[in-house]
Amino acid sequence: MASGTPTAPAGPAAPALPAVDNSRYGIDNEPGDSAYDSEVASYTTSLATNITDYKIENGRRYHAYKEGSRSPSTSIAKDLANSNGLGYPYPNDEKENDRLDIVHKMTTVMLHDRLHLSPIAKDPQRILDLGTGTGIWAMDMGDKYPNAEILGNDLSPIQPRWVPPNVRFEVDDVEADWTYTKPFDFIHCRYMSNAISDWPRLGKQCFDHTKAGGYTELIDFDLDWTSPDGSIDNRPIQKLNRDFLDGSLAVGKDPSPGPKLEQYMKAAGFEDVYAEKFIVPVGTWPADKHLKEVGAWNYLQVMEGIEGFLYRLFTNKLGYSSSEVELMCVKIRADMKDPKMHAMMFVHVAYGKKPEEKSAPED
Ligand SMILES: C[S@@+](CC[C@H](N)C(=O)[O-])C[C@H]1O[C@@H](n2cnc3c(N)ncnc32)[C@H](O)[C@@H]1O
Repeated sequence: MASGTPTAPAGPAAPALPAVDNSRYGIDNEPGDSAYDSEVASYTTSLATNITDYKIENGRRYHAYKEGSRSPSTSIAKDLANSNGLGYPYPNDEKENDRLDIVHKMTTVMLHDRLHLSPIAKDPQRILDLGTGTGIWAMDMGDKYPNAEILGNDLSPIQPRWVPPNVRFEVDDVEADWTYTKPFDFIHCRYMSNAISDWPRLGKQCFDHTKAGGYTELIDFDLDWTSPDGSIDNRPIQKLNRDFLDGSLAVGKDPSPGPKLEQYMKAAGFEDVYAEKFIVPVGTWPADKHLKEVGAWNYLQVMEGIEGFLYRLFTNKLGYSSSEVELMCVKIRADMKDPKMHAMMFVHVAYGKKPEEKSAPED
C-alpha cells in the first residue's frame, strides 16, 4: 500500500453496503414529446397541489406545506409536542390575510411610516423577507428600493401574482437549512410568534446569509397582555391570554419572542445591536394621539384574528371543543368592547450588523 493512503481503523468490519439496485435508475417508457409535456405538467401540478392541499378545520383554512412539522431541536415540553406537531397554528385564508394587512398598517404607523429601522445602505441589492405572509412588506420594499431584488418566502403561497418586477415569492420553510448561494444586504423577519421552534438557529441562519456590513432586523410581539391600571386583572380575557401563552409554549412555539430578539441577535454574532420596545394598545383608550391610532389598528387586527389565534391550538392540542372555543371568543369580544378595559401588548424591534470582513494584515 502506498504510504499516505488512509487505512481503515482497526475494529469491527463495517456492514456491507447493499448492492445498488440499478433498475431504480432505469428510464420510464419514453413517451412522445407531447405526452412527455403533459406528464411533466401532471407531476408539477401534483407537487403544487401538495403545497395548496390546504386543511380545513372549524371552517378555517390552514397551510399544507410541511403541515404538522416541527423542528426536532425543540426542547420545550417535548413530550406533548412530540406526540404530533401542530404546524403553524394560524389559518391562511382570506380573513387571516386581511388581518395580516391590518397588522402591516399598524406596524408602519407604529414605526412612524418606516418599513424598517436598520440603517441599511441607500442602494441595497438583495433583500430577504422571512415568513412574508401576504407579501405586503416585501412589495412596499420593492417600491422603495427599485434597484433591489426582494425575495419573500412562506409556508403558504398566499401572495398576489401581480407584483413589482423586482419582487419574488417562494414557498419555503425558514426552519429548514437555507440553500441561498448569495448573501443578502438585508434580512427581515416580522411576526413569527408561534411559528418558530428554534430561534437561536434562525438567528444563526440570518447571520450566515447576511452580507458582511449588511443588516438583519427581527420584529415580534410580546403577547402577554397587560394594562397600566390593572383594568384587565381577573377578566376572562386575562385567563384566556395566559392559557393561550402556556398552550403555545407547550407545543414548542414561543408566542412572545419579542423580548428575546436582542439576545438572539447578539448570540448569532451581530454587532451594534439596537433594540426598541413599542407599546401596542388594544383599542383607542390612550390619550396620546399616536398610540390611539396604533391602538385602533391593533384592535381591528385582534377582532379579525381571535378565532384564528385560538381554534387550532385549543381544539387540536388543549382538548377544547369547538363550541367551547366559540364561547371563549364571545367573552374576549365582550371584554374588548368594554371601554373600561385598557389592555396593551408590546412589539420589540431588534436589528444588528454583520461585522465587516477584516482585510488581511499587510506584511
Ligand atoms: C403572522 S404572519 C406574518 C407575516 C409577515 N411577516 C408580516 O409581518 O406581515 C406569519 C407568517 O409566517 C409564515 N410561517 C410560519 N412558519 C413558517 C416557516 N417555518 N417558514 C416559512 N414561513 C412560515 C406563515 O405562513 C405566515 O404567513
